Amino acid sequence: MIADSTPSSASAAPGSEGASSEARSGEPSPPPRFDPAMPGVAGVYNAFQGTEKDSLPAERAVAAELDELIGGGLDEARRENRAALARMVSHVARHRPKIRQWMDIGAGMPVPEGEKISNLSALVREIQPDRLWLNVDIAARPLVHGRALLDGDGVTTLKGDLRQLEQLLAEAERHLNLRKPVVVILGAVLHFLNDDEAARVIAVFRSRLAAGSVVIVTHATGDSFPPGVVEKVTSHYERRTRVQPYLRSGEQLAALLADCKPFKWHEPGSGPQELPLKKVPLTFEMLPDESSALADPSAPHARAAIAVLRGS
Ligand SMILES: C[S@@+](CC[C@H](N)C(=O)[O-])C[C@H]1O[C@@H](n2cnc3c(N)ncnc32)[C@H](O)[C@@H]1O
Repeated sequence: MIADSTPSSASAAPGSEGASSEARSGEPSPPPRFDPAMPGVAGVYNAFQGTEKDSLPAERAVAAELDELIGGGLDEARRENRAALARMVSHVARHRPKIRQWMDIGAGMPVPEGEKISNLSALVREIQPDRLWLNVDIAARPLVHGRALLDGDGVTTLKGDLRQLEQLLAEAERHLNLRKPVVVILGAVLHFLNDDEAARVIAVFRSRLAAGSVVIVTHATGDSFPPGVVEKVTSHYERRTRVQPYLRSGEQLAALLADCKPFKWHEPGSGPQELPLKKVPLTFEMLPDESSALADPSAPHARAAIAVLRGS
């Protein structure tokens, strides 16, 4: 069995050395070191909604502890995060048909069998059969499972660290033409980077990616939590996984994306609309459909944004 103990944040054991050896040698580097007793980010996330096959006992324990700390709802948050990502990628695939290169950074594990929403790469392939797709992750299980289950048919899985973005993009360039626009997905991963690291990610995208590239973001928030709960949740998560999450507010996220243009979305019946990025909305507010109308605003939903890079 392969587990991962290596994801993000300055507080985590670095999981990025492998990315540089991969770039140097051109060969897929071995998965990062792992310890089955150490809960990994991808497995804890899977355990929120929990199938036993896709998480370890230690990860299910952490998920239960976090759920208790915030008063429940993490299963709903994960479900809605995935649903929002699915709505956003399908929307962008349809309305930016000329962009046919996709990069999902912090892709996580392939979705468990039987989940309602399939892998994002498969959703986009239905709209763009010739799309090219890179799945990037820092941790062992997403890489091993991704390579085994998703690679082929225009999909490649790469090891990479969002905090070492130039290196990651140099490797990505062997598969995608970065002089042309790409769609980058940052699903539930930017909140593992501190403010400087997160700001740098947006700055590097702006300087390295073609203008008109699109960034799709979902991000954990503590906006609906009672006072004190954000600190409890983040310190508990860090203690158990050695990875520090940063639960940013809608305004903080908007500030992070301030240099980007808001994406025009097309509401049925009312034509294209631009979403102001003053406050990044909650996942169920982004391109809402019938299922999101049922969402409870006080549950711990993430925030979601689609931003267009202007280029530097
Ligand atoms: C919460 S999961 C999200 C999975 C998927 N994107 C989604 O939203 O459904 C976060 C993923 O990001 C990965 N990750 C964390 N820090 C990373 C980093 N610095 N670079 C690349 N991947 C990272 C983790 O290993 C994990 O698979």
